[in-house]
Formats: sequence, structure tokens, C-alpha cells
Amino acid sequence: MAESKPKFIKSDSRVAIIGSGLIGRCWAMLFARAGYSVCVYDIDADQVKGALEATLPMLSTMEAKGLLGDGQTSSEVHQRITGCSQLSEAMEGAFHIQECVPENVELKKKVFESLDELASDMVVLASSTSCISPSKFTEKLKHRSQCIVAHPVNPPYYISLVELVPAPWTDPAVIQRTRSLMTEIGQSPVTLKKEANGFILNRLQYALIMEAWRLVEDGICSPEDVDTAMVEGLAPRYSFMGIFEVMHLNAQGVNDYCHRYGANITTVCESQTPARQLSGPTLDTVNQAMEARTPVKELDKRRKWRDERLAALAVHKKEMAGKDIQK
Ligand code: NAI
Repeated sequence: MAESKPKFIKSDSRVAIIGSGLIGRCWAMLFARAGYSVCVYDIDADQVKGALEATLPMLSTMEAKGLLGDGQTSSEVHQRITGCSQLSEAMEGAFHIQECVPENVELKKKVFESLDELASDMVVLASSTSCISPSKFTEKLKHRSQCIVAHPVNPPYYISLVELVPAPWTDPAVIQRTRSLMTEIGQSPVTLKKEANGFILNRLQYALIMEAWRLVEDGICSPEDVDTAMVEGLAPRYSFMGIFEVMHLNAQGVNDYCHRYGANITTVCESQTPARQLSGPTLDTVNQAMEARTPVKELDKRRKWRDERLAALAVHKKEMAGKDIQK
């Protein structure tokens, strides 16, 4: 695929979403919000119908929070989303395909084989997979150089990160083009230079989960205090600055930080092995604490609260973006 490919004209440009469950619906809204025509396909026709119905109220909420942009209304954005019952119809004229079928490597292989059969030489075939490396399901394809993982974070309209993971055979132009597209639709892409189990986000998240577990298992503190340390200690800075920038500002630059604290960090981390099993009495302790906070039967209510908080944070970050002294 040539790097010099002309820029897409949005009104003529179609995106196809393959699988219209939770994440497929979110992608449909993001692409439509950016002006693209979106065709949603699913093996289950009821899911397509459900996606078309569910996205309108979600877009209305985004409109009410000022997150649709360009003064567009939710119904204008919604009109750009259509459903289709045939894969070939969904892919007809699409320049970007976003696969969103369940997380199962055999299913991804099967779906990508079907996409490969219908793909032109110009289309990008992106998978939303959370943790399957693209080489596991694209190796044998004719169009394998056009395949990439574009992994969003739920809910993508409030959390903008998209992890781009190329297979060893992905064309660099495909990586670049997908990165530009993600930026254009309002997301924040990061690119892995090579495949890595857990990509970036989950490698960081799992390191935190493991240490939280160790703190409880070793009787250092309660599950509630681990969560308080996160929410009231680490998270406020991390919602607008990354790990390396926090280090940079917490001393006279990152060199000074490593000089002052590096040896102690290494000593602490050397004591943080081996990985623990997430089961047994520690699981009982954590479960008891979480049940006391939110019984499982009330999780939906708490999820609504979480999404409200995330929406408020997204609005705040959008407002601050224009005022950020670094921009
Ligand atoms: P889901 O179960 O909500 O939706 C999957 C949809 O795919 C269903 O509507 C199903 O009917 C459809 N489907 C199944 N086989 C199909 C086929 N052969 N052709 C077309 N459609 C087919 O799943 P969800 O949560 O939307 O996940 C989709 C992908 O996104 C997975 O790879 C998942 O790991 C990834 N992802 C999920 C996140 C989440 O929080 N749920 C976050 C980020 C990525």
C-alpha cells in the first residue's frame, strides 16, 4: 500500500463494523461522529437492529455533554450509521474495516479469512481484539500486510486510547494510516513496535493488579486501602500525566529522579516476585471487601455511576485541552 495514497473524502468514505455488540456499537458512533458513513454487520440480525436502536440514546447523551463536536446533533450523526445483513454489502466501498467479534482466536481466524476473500488492496483490516496478537490470525491471508490490531478501551467515547499492534508483516503505511485515522476521529493512538503479550495498557494494569494482590496477601494493607492509595494517590496525576512525566516533575528531571530514587525502586521491585495466583484466601478477602462496597447484584447501578464520572472527566479533559500550556 503506497504511503502517497490520497486523503479520504469523508462524505464518500465508508467504514464497516463487523460485529455489532458492545464495542462494535462504540466504534460505529466514533466513526459516524467524525463524519464517516458506517455500515454495521453482524451474523445476528437482531444485534444489528439493537445496535441501531442503542446508539441513538448514547449519541444524545454525548450531545448533551458537548462531546459530539462541530455543533452536530445526535440524529445527524446517527443517520450516518446503517445496518446490513451481508458481509459483502458491509465491505462494499469501505476503506476501513473494524472487526469486533467475540474474543476467540479461531473465530477471529475465520472472520479474517472471510474479510480477506472480499478485501481490495486498499482497505485496512483492523481487529478490536483485547489480547490476541495479530500474527495469530492473519498469517495465511493474501492481504495480511493490510491487517492490524486497533484495540480500544471501554467505553471508547470517554476513554480515548487505542492500541495499534502490527503483525510482523503489517505494511508500515497501514500503521501510519490507521494512526492518522484514529487521531482524526478523536482517539489517542499508541503504536507497539512489535507484538507483546498484553499490549501496553494491560501490561501496566496487570503489574498494578499483581502488586495490589501482593499487598493484601502479605498482610501489608486491606483491599480498601489499596484502592484508596490508587484513587487518592496515584490516579489524580496519572489522569493527565504519564509515568515518565511524573518522574520528570518529581525531581529535577528524570535523570535526577533515577539518580535519587532508582536504586530503591530496583530494590523494592526485586522483592515483588514471583507472580501470585489470583485465587485462594486472598481472593476471598478481596471479594468480601468488594461485595461490601458494591454487591454483585448492584453492579449495573455502580457502572452507571462510573460512566458518569468518566464522562465528566472526558468533558474536563476536552475543556482543558485548549488551555493546556504545552499545547
Ligand atoms: P460482544 O459479545 O458484545 O459482541 C460481539 C458481536 O459479534 C455479537 O453481536 C455477535 O453476534 C457478533 N458476531 C459473532 N460472530 C460473528 C461473525 N462471524 N461475524 C459477524 N459478527 C459476529 O463482544 P464485545 O465486547 O463487543 O467484544 C468484541 C471485541 O472487542 C473482542 O475482541 C473484545 O476483546 C474486544 N474489546 C472488548 C472490550 C470490552 O470492554 N467489551 C474492550 C476492548 C476491546
